[in-house]
Amino acid sequence: MTRIAIYPGSFDPVTNGHEDLVKRSLSFADRLVVAVAVNLAKEPLFTLEERVDLLQAVLGKNARIEIKAFDGLLAEFARREHAQIIIRGLRAVSDFDYEQQMALMNRQLHPELETVFLVPAVHLTYLSSSLVREIARLGGDIAPFVAPQVERALKAKFAG
Ligand code: PNS
Repeated sequence: MTRIAIYPGSFDPVTNGHEDLVKRSLSFADRLVVAVAVNLAKEPLFTLEERVDLLQAVLGKNARIEIKAFDGLLAEFARREHAQIIIRGLRAVSDFDYEQQMALMNRQLHPELETVFLVPAVHLTYLSSSLVREIARLGGDIAPFVAPQVERALKAKFAG
């Protein structure tokens, strides 16, 4: 059986933490669908197309990875993709409440779908897209946290 995992998120923008989880997921999934949410609670900094393009640029060509935008319920998207696994990152205890709630709700909506939590490399545990956006907006150095393509895109967003 082909093991298909979905790694959903906002990816606004993709960071080294996301990249780390993609690599870790490929150690047990045959195929990984990186699923970029269309509808976010908050207005994203990057458009959907920009978020997908940056993921494509960062993750490069890999026959086992697909990057797709999804709208509506994640559980339904997982069903359409024939995925058995949802990947989510757990960085700190503070992530847990929200993540557990989502995992249980997704199980309610799609009982065959398992959520697998991955812990990123220790030097990436404090990283988040929102912090990276804020540092970039305030002119700080974001090179340690994102790929060069993302660094350039962030600088362009906040130039002038
Ligand atoms: O990177 P994020 O912002 O933490 O990702 C959250 C995301 C997009 C995975 C979550 O909001 C989601 O799954 N949205 C899709 C809509 C949905 O299925 N909502 C019910 C979740 S139980």
